[in-house]
Amino acid sequence: MKKIAVFVSGGGSNLQSIIDQTKNGILKNLAAVSLVISNNPSAFALQRAKKEKIKSLFIKNSDEKVLQELKISQIDLICLAGYMSLISSKIIDVYNNRILNIHPSLLPKFGGKKMYGHYVHQAVIKAGEKKSGATVHFVDENYDTGKIIIQKEIPVFENDTSEILAKRVLEIEHKIYPEAIKSVILKMSDNEQKR
Ligand code: GRF
Repeated sequence: MKKIAVFVSGGGSNLQSIIDQTKNGILKNLAAVSLVISNNPSAFALQRAKKEKIKSLFIKNSDEKVLQELKISQIDLICLAGYMSLISSKIIDVYNNRILNIHPSLLPKFGGKKMYGHYVHQAVIKAGEKKSGATVHFVDENYDTGKIIIQKEIPVFENDTSEILAKRVLEIEHKIYPEAIKSVILKMSDNEQKR
């Protein structure tokens, strides 16, 4: 059983789908969400965590505190899910190849510092893209540039608004994030056995 920490800043629908899959889905007996960290004290995701009786903390601008809590909870894997802050190299050094992020576009397209939330979908529509999608990738020191784990496409329809497209992409996110987590965990366990 791997222990996951999910980092959030907003609504937490991806957090919820990960939790649901650990309880009754593809992550059952493989992983548990043991910690939720938010840099936004009023994130609805924190309420979701409380409801699930998962330890949840508001931590802002303190890598030391984050690392300390990850250690206390014996976290194996970090999943960023709508977390609006860059992960520092201090944390990446400790959790190298064990930090995942989900991004609502087909990376490397429409990624980067200012590409988040509705900005992504607005840019996709403005560029006249025929397809969009979601990407789960490993986290490195930059925004949205780490190695891709899973990517899934969906069509963009002519009269899509950014809201409609966001909603359709989010449905894909809820599916591929747990799948990506599963594949990473299986690989981690495999590597441990080989040691
Ligand atoms: C998702 O679209 C995710 O791709 C992006 O932020 C959004 C978070 O949504 N990084 P939620 O908080 O999981 O509902």
